[in-house]
Amino acid sequence: MRSKSNIAIGLAATGSLVAAAPCDLYKNGGTPCVAAHGTTRALYDAYTGPLYQIKRGSDGTTADISPLSAGGVANAAAQDSFCKSTTCLITIIYDQSGRANHLYQAPKGAFSGPDVNGNDNLASAIGAPVTLNGKKAYGVFVSPGTGYRNDEVSGTATGDQPEGMYAVLDGTHYNDACCFDYGNAEVSNTDTGNGHMEAIYYGNNTIWGTGSGSGPWLMADLENGLFSGQSPAQNTADPSIYNRFFTGMVKGKPNQWALRGGNAASGALSTYYSGARPTVGGYNPMSLEGAIILGIGGDNSNGAQGTFYEGVMTSGYPSDSVEASVQANIVAAKYATTSLNTAPLTVGNKVSIKVTSPGYDTRYLAHSGATVNTQVVSSSSATALKQQSSWTVRTGLGNSDCYSFESVDTPGSFIRHYNFVLQLNKNDNTKAFKEDATFCSQTGLATGNTIRSWSYPAKFFRHYNNVGYI
Ligand code: AHR
Ligand code: AHR
Repeated sequence: MRSKSNIAIGLAATGSLVAAAPCDLYKNGGTPCVAAHGTTRALYDAYTGPLYQIKRGSDGTTADISPLSAGGVANAAAQDSFCKSTTCLITIIYDQSGRANHLYQAPKGAFSGPDVNGNDNLASAIGAPVTLNGKKAYGVFVSPGTGYRNDEVSGTATGDQPEGMYAVLDGTHYNDACCFDYGNAEVSNTDTGNGHMEAIYYGNNTIWGTGSGSGPWLMADLENGLFSGQSPAQNTADPSIYNRFFTGMVKGKPNQWALRGGNAASGALSTYYSGARPTVGGYNPMSLEGAIILGIGGDNSNGAQGTFYEGVMTSGYPSDSVEASVQANIVAAKYATTSLNTAPLTVGNKVSIKVTSPGYDTRYLAHSGATVNTQVVSSSSATALKQQSSWTVRTGLGNSDCYSFESVDTPGSFIRHYNFVLQLNKNDNTKAFKEDATFCSQTGLATGNTIRSWSYPAKFFRHYNNVGYI
């Protein structure tokens, strides 16, 4: 009996070591987190505080979303009930490190954002649903124009001080614009020169550095350059990434930095680069300023897209072995996909999309040439008009969990948005077209279904002056 219970105690101790959350692991390694952001889960075993704040459209009130239990997954059900029949945006991503390095709506920088006063947009709270160990949670889905920042940070690296960082991202959500970043940037929201940033970058931008293949790549945004290695051009050891869930890591110290990554759902990290700072001027020593950005470049360049689930920044240069245990903890969190639709459609069906607004409910979403509009259609309408207002539901061209609407009378042409206006265009097979033509279906904000843009999940099919928009 005695030896049996000893064995049981031994197993329990091993179990709790494996479960240590990322910031417990960094702390044990002597490189503590100075910022810890995760809308999906707590990043310390003991953390019970808020993970993020949401604001709903119906009455402008806010709510904090916390983990279900200490160290646990976010309480997504609390979000779902707070946001029922309305829209919600993520207003704050709280810092779990105790330093109050929260991420807020990014202000205007050298570049203006699309929101009031040149601020960037806030992310929809529902754009990036996932499960962790089977429990639903939401990531931060960054559409072009979206960004978060904190310019008044405590404890992050400045000058040439050592630091590390990791982020868990959606490896399939990216573009080639500048710059989907998470990490250290300028406090002035402007480009103050080489070496004034050190951030994780993810995407297929080719203006500065590249890796092998056609991307997307993990690179380091060191300001005025996305680096895949020592050369500002190409490092073929930096691979194109195909993982749905991806762990990216960047770390730096005097004349040394590293780029490491791996599948966030299984396996270990690989080192894509570890060595001296770039040879071009300004990056050795570094001139870090210590602000924190998410989804944007240092100067508030905000054309990029991507999805962030969790990430941290550390004080000190973390060891490879601590990073290996952080990766093991991320894998043990079991990130997995879940449906983007709360009111699914049936692929292959022909549908008519009826306007539900009172006074307009004899109208259907139709097209006249390339213009997508609403028209009054009834059972006695001409066949041509009926066909103009009929759509075949297809598997989403840009995301196979959602849908594309193919014109019944113009096969090969799909509803897409362009400058947020709906249009009927022929599929040109570009990534941009496919993403602009992909929509998800949710329980109606008023009644029936509401159709949401996949790439801009804060925007929905709507009509205005009988023309279609998102
Ligand atoms: O380094 C790439 C980008 O260049 C930075 O993010 C931005 O500040 C500048 O435009
Ligand atoms: O509709 C919004 C954006 O406008 C589309 O994504 C892009 O193709 C265009 O610039």
